[in-house]
Amino acid sequence: MSVFADWLKTFIAQEGPISVERYMELCLSHPLGYYATRDPFGETGDFITSPEISQIFGELLGIFAIATWQSMGEPQSLTLIELGPGRGTLMSDALRIVRRCEPLWRGLEVHLVEISPVLRQYQQERLISSFAVPIHWHDSIATLPGGHCFLLANEFFDAFPVRHFIKGYQGWHERQIGFDGETLDFGLSPDPEPHMTVQASEGDILEIAPRRNSLVQQLASHVLAHKGVLLIMDYGYGEPTFGDTFQAVKAHQYVDVLENPGEADLTAHVDFSALAKAAAQTGAAVSRLVSQRDFLLAMGIEARAAQLCDKADALQQNKIRLGVERLISDAEPTDMGALFKVLSISHPSLHPLPGFS
Ligand SMILES: C[S@@+](CC[C@H](N)C(=O)[O-])C[C@H]1O[C@@H](n2cnc3c(N)ncnc32)[C@H](O)[C@@H]1O
Repeated sequence: MSVFADWLKTFIAQEGPISVERYMELCLSHPLGYYATRDPFGETGDFITSPEISQIFGELLGIFAIATWQSMGEPQSLTLIELGPGRGTLMSDALRIVRRCEPLWRGLEVHLVEISPVLRQYQQERLISSFAVPIHWHDSIATLPGGHCFLLANEFFDAFPVRHFIKGYQGWHERQIGFDGETLDFGLSPDPEPHMTVQASEGDILEIAPRRNSLVQQLASHVLAHKGVLLIMDYGYGEPTFGDTFQAVKAHQYVDVLENPGEADLTAHVDFSALAKAAAQTGAAVSRLVSQRDFLLAMGIEARAAQLCDKADALQQNKIRLGVERLISDAEPTDMGALFKVLSISHPSLHPLPGFS
């Protein structure tokens, strides 16, 4: 048993059952937990993300950053912010493109919000020596600076914890995780929630993410105050629905969410309708939700792939095409082109943005 699993079981044994939200938060963000103790990417890790599949992903976001800056009236300075930058691959690919726009490059500052010390190290090695722009790291969004800004979040919101409620005959009970001395198990809070009135059938599960919704509201207020744009890319769904999307992935396989706590990546699909609603309450402009396929096609993924292929050998051409296909395929609902969605939240004067037409 890992040191974290041992600590967690003792904690639950002493304090009593904890909510799914607390479990997810502890497993991912505890100093002995998942993100603090490993590099989870790549073939030897647990998962792979879009920028790790193809350099074109980050490059197109570099183009998006230039277009955003132009729609702001080409201000003297721009703050480029990434939330959860992983290995720094997306930012590195985007900066290679942004660097070509001299007047933007001169006034650019990069800010990265990252909780993992291991991944911060990767980001520093990847970015500091390659790009002559100021780069700053933050533990949370609380310390982000003001000024015109473009914020990017790819697979960041899915890591924010969810709460589960299950409909019983007396009302909604919160799902909890307890420890019986041997294993971690799901249970329910003994009393129903007094203020929950959502209509549903017995056994239905309601998954909500108040922490995500509050985060998006803070970010929407930020883009509103500083004439900025926030681009959210993640896997999720556009219409509210009942069900449980809480999942654990280890070594590219789905595993039991309660087995090996702190050793698997825990996420839940993003409810984009809840994000859009929370952001709109601030007065920020919220785009329509588009699939990753439609967004990347509108941003020119095929033209860029053709350009790269022109200078590549047959092996490299195959790799480029396979990468693009993986990012935009929507043959199955679980393919990245369909499952992943893109939403922008912006100052109303900057609406509409490229990729959403
Ligand atoms: C699934 S990875 C995505 C990485 C990157 N955006 C990409 O597309 O490759 C999630 C990233 O968010 C970071 N992260 C997760 N929760 C965080 C939090 N609460 N605050 C800051 N960073 C967080 C992780 O350390 C990691 O860098």
